[in-house]
Amino acid sequence: MWPNHRFINLCGIELPIIQAPMAGVAFSDMVVAVSQAGGLGSLACALLSVEQARNELETIRRKTSRPINANFFCHQPPQDDRDRERNWRQRLDAYYVQLQIDSNISIPNSARAPFDDKMCDLVTKFHPEVVSFQFGLPDKNLLLRIRKTGAKIMSSATTVNEARWLEDQGCDAIIAQGFEAGGHRGMFLTEDVSTQVGTMALVPQVVDAVKVPVIAAGGIADGRGILAAFALGAAAVQIGTAYLHCPEAQISPLYRQALKGARDNDTAITNVFTGRPARAIVNRFMREVGPMSDVAPKFPLAAAALAPLRAKSEMAGSADFTSLWSGQAARLSRELPAAELTRQIAADALKNLRSMQTMA
Ligand SMILES: Cc1cc2nc3c(=O)[nH]c(=O)nc-3n(C[C@H](O)[C@H](O)[C@H](O)COP(=O)(O)O)c2cc1C
Repeated sequence: MWPNHRFINLCGIELPIIQAPMAGVAFSDMVVAVSQAGGLGSLACALLSVEQARNELETIRRKTSRPINANFFCHQPPQDDRDRERNWRQRLDAYYVQLQIDSNISIPNSARAPFDDKMCDLVTKFHPEVVSFQFGLPDKNLLLRIRKTGAKIMSSATTVNEARWLEDQGCDAIIAQGFEAGGHRGMFLTEDVSTQVGTMALVPQVVDAVKVPVIAAGGIADGRGILAAFALGAAAVQIGTAYLHCPEAQISPLYRQALKGARDNDTAITNVFTGRPARAIVNRFMREVGPMSDVAPKFPLAAAALAPLRAKSEMAGSADFTSLWSGQAARLSRELPAAELTRQIAADALKNLRSMQTMA
């Protein structure tokens, strides 16, 4: 019934829909709901401690025996750069004064840690059927350990070059992440945001360049988007922003409200929240300091100095300093529980497919 069964067969799922891993936002209840509905639920581990990730995986395995995806970042931790850090703090000084925050407040480092041996121990213990990465792949020894568990391995590519590289390293599937996508750009062989490619252009070019199944991501939020992705040659879709509207998404009322009102051109690519380019709804901090800043420390260090500003302004009911990650298609989303959303957009895609076939 689906025009392409390669990804469904690869992972043993029913619907070619991956709920995107969303660090800090989507946890075990969302993963279980999507996997139980027949899609592939993803647990993002980038912001979790090993203990938290273990608890989440335990809960997921207790509640469903369906396939799941565990997702990790694999960036190179940056060198300490005191000058850069000082310049960043100076850039933020006026905001500290305005919000009456002591500029000597001690600030913990960002929790975003790359995949390591300890997280790999969890993969070998809980054997998720799929393990996916953002920002390339971890080193060969870690990859080998994952492979031995039988998990399918995938990662995001934002260019054909990155897709070819991932295939050469043995990825079983590749996520083609178009420019429309919410959250961080998965880019790892280029730093040039200005040449990043939209989903419509990227997906068919990646499909032509690699042999493994390609998953389309970025700006897909309903049955029309899913059908379009299949027409471009994708074997599945990875959807993030649309799932942010679900009750399972652990986002603040401020974030939810911003998403509800987000128009097609309300998001931009910014590095001011973490130091890496990511798409978010434009707010005061992005407008005044970015959206791209030369002063922002390298990923993930930029996040630390921002945390007190965010906390204080959220307490006062403002999202001025909050990273409101969102793709360009927030408007297309529906407020439904994650299982229902998964089933409904899959059914809509198939209905659209049948009506197109009838017309032809
Ligand atoms: C709030 C949010 C958090 C995200 N966190 C992650 C993450 O932890 N790991 C990852 O691989 N991708 C992450 N992404 C990117 C998604 O995997 C995916 O590329 C993107 O959501 C697709 O575009 P869409 O948001 O338009 O559906 C995140 C996206 C959003 C919106």
